[in-house]
Amino acid sequence: MYKLFFNLVFKRLDPEKAHHLAFFWIRLASSIPGLRNLVAGVLAPRDPKLRTKALGLDLPGPFGLAAGFDKNAVGIDGLTMLGFDYVEIGTVTAQAQPGNPTPRLFRLIEDRALINRMGFNNEGSAAVAARLARRPKSSKAVVGVNIGKTKVVPEAEAVGDYVTSTERLARHADYFVVNVSSPNTPGLRNLQAVDQLRPLLTAVRETLDATATGHVPLLVKIAPDLADADVDAVADLALELQLDGIIATNTTIGREGLRADAAKVEGIGAGGLSGAPLKARASEVLERLYARSEGRITLVAVGGIETAEDAWQRILAGASLVQGYSAFIYEGPFWCRRIHKGLSALLAASPYATLGDAVGAAARR
Ligand SMILES: Cc1cc2nc3c(=O)[nH]c(=O)nc-3n(C[C@H](O)[C@H](O)[C@H](O)COP(=O)(O)O)c2cc1C
Repeated sequence: MYKLFFNLVFKRLDPEKAHHLAFFWIRLASSIPGLRNLVAGVLAPRDPKLRTKALGLDLPGPFGLAAGFDKNAVGIDGLTMLGFDYVEIGTVTAQAQPGNPTPRLFRLIEDRALINRMGFNNEGSAAVAARLARRPKSSKAVVGVNIGKTKVVPEAEAVGDYVTSTERLARHADYFVVNVSSPNTPGLRNLQAVDQLRPLLTAVRETLDATATGHVPLLVKIAPDLADADVDAVADLALELQLDGIIATNTTIGREGLRADAAKVEGIGAGGLSGAPLKARASEVLERLYARSEGRITLVAVGGIETAEDAWQRILAGASLVQGYSAFIYEGPFWCRRIHKGLSALLAASPYATLGDAVGAAARR
């Protein structure tokens, strides 16, 4: 049904317009309590065995929506209604910014992939913090907050920019992510070098501790394009700073192995590639992080996860949590339900009693 709808409606629309339309419907449905409960009843039932404890959180399952879909925290409850076990909002920057000129989001349907150069379009951390503060206390949604650098702020002043957003958003986050891996903000990925990353993560940690009540877990999100030695260096730094976790990975600037016509891909131009073509490298980075940290850091896997089998393989490779974005566009509203049902079957057929027991099992074999 969704595939037919995608072909008849979404495919004919500009991808960013399709995103806004779909997100509007999701928010509309979740604003009507009877409808929200009905939809959640169909899409969001989970096997209790999928309950996941990670980052000090107790989640109904391991599968979240990756950053970038809900940049301004406008639809957390609607996305939770669809079955996401947690929603990572952002990337949010200290100053509001419009992002790059449009068009800036492109589909590679034959590759089940997307290319985006959105450029952190968002309302800024003050507006997003105010919106999060208005959320009803009764909401059970689990919210990760992902922050990045304002484009016009020079690299040398990046720490202050991240600290400003941290001060505003710390109280509203179940976990916090320092994003240094988007390819669409010039210079951002230089912050992944450990000499830059150490003072940045230290400052954000100190600000979280000074601002929030209780421990807010802090993670860093890295690019798949890091050299293996740099992936190892981030794992070492995470251990040194007692970081709570690493998210692997963001989109890639690579264009290898695509089915789409080369001229079409070249015509799209710069941007981060996500979806199925990212699967292999994102898995490799995850495996490397798990091996290097000897399983001592919580890892969140993202990049090309489309099916329950994909999610399961990442868990076996060392991920305590998994996320996705691009496949949501191609799979539609039943995606979470399929992932949860599939994971439940894979867990039942495995020797493990809980998902937690399965984490890293492939690496231990
Ligand atoms: C349109 C779009 C916008 C994105 N925006 C962000 C963002 O603002 N911050 C971020 O950390 N990641 C962002 N991402 C990256 C995703 O969170 C994810 O890391 C990446 O897409 C790989 O996962 P996937 O293959 O399941 O899409 C974005 C991805 C897409 C497709």
